[in-house]
Amino acid sequence: MITEIIKIDTNNIDYKWIQKAAYILKQGGLVAFPTETVYGIGANALSETAIKKIYTAKGRPSDNPLIVHIGHVDDVNEYAQNISEVAKKLMNKFWPGPLTLIFKKKPIINETITGGLDTVAIRLPANEIARAIIKEAKLPIAAPSANRSGKPSPTRAKHVIEDLGGRVDMIVDGGKAQIGLESTVLDVSGSVPVILRPGSITKKMLEEVVGEVLIDPALLTGQENIKPKSPGMKYRHYAPKGHLTVIYGEEEKAISYINENVQTLMNTGRKVAIISTVEEASLYHGSNIMIIGSMHDHKEIASNLFKLLRLADEQQIEYIFTRAFSEEDIGMATMNRLLKAAGNKKICL
Ligand code: TXA
Ligand code: MG
Repeated sequence: MITEIIKIDTNNIDYKWIQKAAYILKQGGLVAFPTETVYGIGANALSETAIKKIYTAKGRPSDNPLIVHIGHVDDVNEYAQNISEVAKKLMNKFWPGPLTLIFKKKPIINETITGGLDTVAIRLPANEIARAIIKEAKLPIAAPSANRSGKPSPTRAKHVIEDLGGRVDMIVDGGKAQIGLESTVLDVSGSVPVILRPGSITKKMLEEVVGEVLIDPALLTGQENIKPKSPGMKYRHYAPKGHLTVIYGEEEKAISYINENVQTLMNTGRKVAIISTVEEASLYHGSNIMIIGSMHDHKEIASNLFKLLRLADEQQIEYIFTRAFSEEDIGMATMNRLLKAAGNKKICL
């Protein structure tokens, strides 16, 4: 398949391309586009054939459900039922934006999209290009992250081209995805909302609007054996090709542990990289230090994580070391993705 790659400027959207992208979606094709979290690969959510194409293009297991992206808040009523007051408050406050809500589904939503579940995940993205395409297509758009299954989610069009070039009809390059981590997934189908996937909309932010919010126990450290409620969270994910180890412990100890291990590996000719904050970079001895951002800027760290994991693959790095980052704010999401990428390989000093 030939993939058409087009560039759209978010500040000056050329509607000719929006119409073309929408046309492809209406015809049952696949279009990858930017959102404020990560790039997505979109298809008509009402067409079983189109949805199946997504699973094939991504190499994704069919029991892992997709998020339905809508163009307008009111569209939620077409696909979801039993929408609670709590859910309404959250939609008011956080939509459009990086919050995916899980509702009981209406029959119009096919089980191909929900992986056989009776619930549906819905999100109204904030990115103007994404919303323009969805509105123009006048369809709900199923859009998982636009990576091959198992790889880090794409935060730039270049990543999408690497993974899905030749597998989709169109890739829309809209620049860098600002947040860089996928949306918070919140189950609002029960009486108390439950976070199934942490993201930039944190537990605290949600609680300020609706009171108590729970976290799926499978997400908490030390509970790796509990089955997560969000099917996607059970897969090995975001993984670079090299071995990634996350070091917990105080700065001095952690840095010397990393320095010693890097030295030993380099002596035997292995390719090694260290992911470091700006502040700590000069304390490491390795030659390949990848700077993720300031330790005080949790958003910056979040937005660069997937890019660096992909860069490590590009450089054929065999071993990657990083200290654990702060779990404050979006830090909980960063650490959730980092530990998954590491296959939970962590050293506590
Ligand atoms: O930020 C995002 O959410 C991005 C952009 C493109 O919108 N999309 C994204 O989609 O991350 P995906 O398919 O890569 O991740 C969707 C997550 C998976 O963990 C999936 O298991 C979960 O949402 N999910 C979808 N439907 C669900 C449902 N009915 N119940 C529980 N979890 C669900
Ligand atoms: Mg994904």
